[in-house]
Amino acid sequence: MKDATIQMPPQASTVAPHIDALYYFIFWGCTFFFLLIVGFSLYFVIRYRRTKEQRQEKGFHNTPLEITWTVIPTILVMIVFVWGFRGYMDLAVAPGNAIDYYVTGKKWLWQITDPNGAVSINEMTVPLNQPVKIILRSEDLIHSFYVPAFRVKQDAIPNRYNTLWFQATMPGDFDIFCTEYCGAGHSGMLGKVHVLTPEKWAEYLKSTGGRPSTMPLDQWGAKLYASKACITCHSLDGSVKTGPSFKGVFGHQVTLKDGSTVTADENYIRHSIEEPGAQVVQGFEPVMPVFKGTLSDDDIDALIAFIKKQQ
Ligand code: CUA
Repeated sequence: MKDATIQMPPQASTVAPHIDALYYFIFWGCTFFFLLIVGFSLYFVIRYRRTKEQRQEKGFHNTPLEITWTVIPTILVMIVFVWGFRGYMDLAVAPGNAIDYYVTGKKWLWQITDPNGAVSINEMTVPLNQPVKIILRSEDLIHSFYVPAFRVKQDAIPNRYNTLWFQATMPGDFDIFCTEYCGAGHSGMLGKVHVLTPEKWAEYLKSTGGRPSTMPLDQWGAKLYASKACITCHSLDGSVKTGPSFKGVFGHQVTLKDGSTVTADENYIRHSIEEPGAQVVQGFEPVMPVFKGTLSDDDIDALIAFIKKQQ
């Protein structure tokens, strides 16, 4: 466990110290040999400049010297290879007792399914000091799931699963980035891993069912509006972002891409959440992720109630 340095984010997982050690071995090794070779080259260029007569002589050969500068670098790259390969195997094979999370990348968010089946957007909550395995896929094109503080990175690819694992060693909040350019929203495809003590994590799992039975629908909808990242593209004040504003939309006519009009009622909103590409409002691109299967019926009711209130 080490804090951030000028080169590195904090070491917040079990693999991070090993990866950093190899990185620094390569970094300082390269620095040392760069200075050694350039230093000697400059010195020799000046000190042993050939005279006119020497230019006529035959070339110079020294077998022991050539063997030395072949054998030493070979040993060094073999050390880096073995060290790196062991690190790679360690990263590739998750411990048998790891807790499974399903993570899906889509334009432009991370959908995270907890072990209890609850779905979060861009927020992943994991226990401290326990191995966590991520089963990763994409719904559209290639994304890449990256948590710098854990030193783990893996591509999310359509139509196949990739996996990665980590064991967090530091409580706190750590950044998730997408590191594969995936279009206009790539730089905003951000998330957080929240590392909690096992007790707090167990409490968190209990709290993430659905809407508490005493909470009104529209209040739950307001929570979902933020937690499911609708807020990123849909304003409440009429301003136009990536998607249409929610202000004053309910019960009114909207014009669709093909020029037809439709009333924004309960059915239209439900359809637009589940299959956003089907009835796109004129002036907007069909870029919203599909939420079919992500939201429960009650969640959709709550969002409809919330949108109704934005008059
Ligand atoms: Cu997803 Cu870049």
